[in-house]
Amino acid sequence: MSKLFSPITLSAAEGTGLTLRNRAFVAPMCQYSADGEDGVATSWHLQHYGSFAAGGFSLVVVEATGVLPEGRISPRCLGIYDEPTEAAHARIVEMAHGLGAAAGLQIGHAGGKGSTYPTLPGFDAGTVPVSEGGWATFGPTDKAVFPGLADPIALDREGIERVIEGFADAARRADRAGYDVLQIHAAHGYLIHQFLSPLTNTRTDEYGGSEENRTRLLREVTAAVREAWPAHKPLGIRVSATDWDEAGWTVQATATIVRTLAEDHGITWVDVSSGGLVAGSKIPVGPGYQVPLALELTQALADLDVAVSAVGLVANPDQAETILVTGQAHAISIGRAALGNPHWASAAAVALRAATPDAHIQPQYWRAHWS
Ligand SMILES: Cc1cc2nc3c(=O)[nH]c(=O)nc-3n(C[C@H](O)[C@H](O)[C@H](O)COP(=O)(O)O)c2cc1C
Repeated sequence: MSKLFSPITLSAAEGTGLTLRNRAFVAPMCQYSADGEDGVATSWHLQHYGSFAAGGFSLVVVEATGVLPEGRISPRCLGIYDEPTEAAHARIVEMAHGLGAAAGLQIGHAGGKGSTYPTLPGFDAGTVPVSEGGWATFGPTDKAVFPGLADPIALDREGIERVIEGFADAARRADRAGYDVLQIHAAHGYLIHQFLSPLTNTRTDEYGGSEENRTRLLREVTAAVREAWPAHKPLGIRVSATDWDEAGWTVQATATIVRTLAEDHGITWVDVSSGGLVAGSKIPVGPGYQVPLALELTQALADLDVAVSAVGLVANPDQAETILVTGQAHAISIGRAALGNPHWASAAAVALRAATPDAHIQPQYWRAHWS
């Protein structure tokens, strides 16, 4: 019996939550393919997310999606802030559901890492100027997060309210679009992470300084989202559990805030990533390099009903199975290995002897494995 291919239930504030067909999730991955630069998903996104759903994953998490136009990472990133963007998401959800997968959406605000060129071959790096379709960005302070990025505008109280309301509105739209799970993007150096870390948050008001103050934006966003998102649907968060910098955000601080969010605001799933905030940090990149962070959270939150997923260079089925069997995490998010093989989960089910004609493989493709 494979652990990776056993079901998992993501709990909800009310009701039974959501039972997923296995523990292989697709990690959110920007596609920079909203060709109209209007935040609207295209046929690329339909086939892209559809192929993961057909490929046996249980939960397909759609890429970082801006809760406001200025919250997008690049002009070609997705949004969910008006009727056209919402309607396009509904088509992705319908596609995933039709193929037996649940659909999750990562909602975020890029802050000072917004308005950048798409990370695609042939594009420049850095900030897209307003004259080329970019926009003024916002952050906890007016200092650029990374060298090469434009200085943001420091958010004032009114700006913070706009962000919080943007997240809540995005949650309502995601529900209407049919999403089963919502993931708040608090990782990778984007706006919420910029507020969390002492490396980038040097504010002197109630949103800066102490850990209590630096986590305030995340607590307020999560409270507003939980209020807007139906109580019977699970709510998750993606964290950078460390900045890989002694003066930065730590795994202990991550465990503390996730506990608070779980106890007070109904978070029931945490996807454990790291880094992305400052250039030059020494990251020990290698197979499963972020799994120890997932383990720390799994242990720290063991008394709570919170599913922990590990991510980062988990690329082969035995490796994924071992992480789960040894109790280091409850699920695995697969990124680049899924881009390389959108049917990664079906292939893993075969490798782990968990595939049957009615589970983890599309019946139309069954003969690829056993004819
Ligand atoms: C093309 C690409 C786009 C990505 N976009 C996002 C994103 O939208 N949101 C996010 O949280 N992480 C994003 N990531 C990070 C992945 O979700 C994942 O955490 C990372 O690639 C490590 O996992 P892997 O080794 O399985 O690829 C992206 C990664 C890639 C390769």
